[in-house]
Amino acid sequence: MSTSPTDADLAFPPGFLWGTASSAHQVEGDNTNNQWSLFERRPGAIADGSIAGRACNWWTDAEADFDRMAALGLNAHRLSLEWSRIEPQPGRYDDRALARYRAMLLALRERNIQPWVALHHFTNPIWLETMGGWENPSVVARFAAYARIAAEHLGDLCTMWLTFNEPLVYLGQGWVRGLWPPQRPHPILARRVFLHLLEGHAAAYHALHAAHPTAQVGIAKAMRRFAPLRPRHPADRVAARLRTYLYEDLWFAATVHGRLLPPLGQGHRQAHLAGTLDFIGINYYARRYVHFTPNPLRIFAHEENPPDGELADAGSHGPPTRLDPAGLLESIRYVRQFNQPIYITEHGLPDAADSRRPRWLLAHLLALHRALAEGADVRGYFHWTLVDNFEWNDGWSLRFGLIALDPATQTRTPRPSAQLYATIARANALPARLLHDYAVPNLAE
Ligand code: FCB
Repeated sequence: MSTSPTDADLAFPPGFLWGTASSAHQVEGDNTNNQWSLFERRPGAIADGSIAGRACNWWTDAEADFDRMAALGLNAHRLSLEWSRIEPQPGRYDDRALARYRAMLLALRERNIQPWVALHHFTNPIWLETMGGWENPSVVARFAAYARIAAEHLGDLCTMWLTFNEPLVYLGQGWVRGLWPPQRPHPILARRVFLHLLEGHAAAYHALHAAHPTAQVGIAKAMRRFAPLRPRHPADRVAARLRTYLYEDLWFAATVHGRLLPPLGQGHRQAHLAGTLDFIGINYYARRYVHFTPNPLRIFAHEENPPDGELADAGSHGPPTRLDPAGLLESIRYVRQFNQPIYITEHGLPDAADSRRPRWLLAHLLALHRALAEGADVRGYFHWTLVDNFEWNDGWSLRFGLIALDPATQTRTPRPSAQLYATIARANALPARLLHDYAVPNLAE
């Protein structure tokens, strides 16, 4: 496989998945029974004062956007189930919600789009949140019961399952930074939630497999590959290493090897946690650069972009996303040690004008192709996202879609990137002409 971007088209392996990713609260509309539906109405919670509202209208008509995926030649889509719809009250399951999800998965399959399902993508039922949510040990059994119901009702239509999307982003935003509900930054609570997320993942993994032995179960893991902002500064280096340990190493030590490393445990092997990833999903946006600060509550650092580099649109918290395709290659190299199939379960950028997205998309796919040439078993790529949607704290102010959406009128306008992505997906290759036309730089080693 050639890695030079200039001479020939760069082919991807046969059967490679070209998809998009979404989550329930961000696209469905009219979710009124989860904690975000309460949180987003609090003054100041969302940067532009917006709410998810009708979102992309998927609860009523996801099929129209599934048609758009098919028209682009995509062959996979990753969505999430809204727990609060499926289990609106503790132990009471809603057949109509399950039927709607069945219809959505069927509609994807009818269009030759492989469905992927995540059980948890940041939202919880209000009843669960009221009982303490992921701080309450009972959440583990409740999450496993919900996983079993989902597998029993939907498992015949879907092989690829994610227990969690970005469990440690959920943890970090809620219990370290305190930006997202339940806004309870506290190290002891954060450790407790970490353990419950791991136990919940393992319990759901086993529940999904019990109901459907052929299911493939993993998570979408946000990869950051933290780096020191000042490369030779010892304190920045230690701070970057500490973040990598807490944010990346701990999760894999537990779910691959069954070991709860300090501060989670003493490192003894726990059989029920070990081997609970059938594949590894990477969500990658950019590497994070850390600058030491003497504050243990901030885990001894703040994140800042290096002075050089190309930036995407700025959100309300933290540095804007910086063009960094080498970090995707590094993320893939890191997870290869676990010897499981790899999927890029999210990548994208906020770029309302679509002035950077085409080149950034090509640059990251070139990095992905390099990883394939190195022998990495990467089997698919899911772009975040098809249609602009409700971007959490940033509301409707950040636009990640290949297709622009006016949420008030539901008018959709494809951005140029949509056609570009379609060209790549249909060719199952990175056409040399495009790499040349967009002046996509080759990667350093
Ligand atoms: C990821 C989230 C997803 C979306 C993108 C932009 O961290 O999983 O819901 O917000 O970022």
